[in-house]
Amino acid sequence: MTKELFKGSILFGPLPAVLVTTVDREGRPNVFTVSWTGVACSRPPMVTIAVRKERLSYENIQATGEFVINLTTRDMLKMTDFCGCRSGRKVDKIKHFGLELEPGAEVAVPSLKKSPVALECRVKSVTELGTHDLFLAEIVRNKVEQSLIDRDGKICLGESGLLAYCHGEYFALGRQPMGTFGHSVASRRKKEQGAKKIGKTR
Ligand SMILES: Cc1cc2nc3c(=O)[nH]c(=O)nc-3n(C[C@H](O)[C@H](O)[C@H](O)COP(=O)(O)O)c2cc1C
Repeated sequence: MTKELFKGSILFGPLPAVLVTTVDREGRPNVFTVSWTGVACSRPPMVTIAVRKERLSYENIQATGEFVINLTTRDMLKMTDFCGCRSGRKVDKIKHFGLELEPGAEVAVPSLKKSPVALECRVKSVTELGTHDLFLAEIVRNKVEQSLIDRDGKICLGESGLLAYCHGEYFALGRQPMGTFGHSVASRRKKEQGAKKIGKTR
């Protein structure tokens, strides 16, 4: 590949396009779209979202210290885009789409019924970076759509067409996984495990 040089900016992707629910001090819910989100730690489970100060959602998160990340799917595309283009200051986005809400289990913020996976988050720190502030938050509860959990307790999201956002365009993830974690090293690892076992018995 021959690469051209671009100015320093965000050419990072694909990213998830998630719908983040929040409530204000009076408990009124709002929802907005976030792509600048990521995983920060496994234990405790921590995530980040980067939010501009002018968002209504920013105010809500600052006020309550809580938010819920709702993963989005192919059939949530329109609302995902809309909730990222209109502020809750002007439009009641939840009413606009007739979104059904489910009360939080560990937080006072509801999740979206339509979303297959909701992560209830409690803010640990806020870092001012420039255009955006970075909220680092602990996931205090995960909620997963029952029908997506198989008999072995595995979460099967392939069918739901999770949404990704890449350089201004939305994509839905394909149904078939291209591989599973560790497949590239599986046979070697098995060999190594086998060798260790042999070593132990000697
Ligand atoms: C795909 C997409 C991703 C977005 N990602 C972010 C983000 O990561 N952080 C942010 O502050 N705004 C992001 N936005 C913009 C906000 O969602 C948008 O300004 C929204 O209207 C704010 O709503 P609120 O004022 O009701 O909180 C994104 C918008 C879209 C369409």
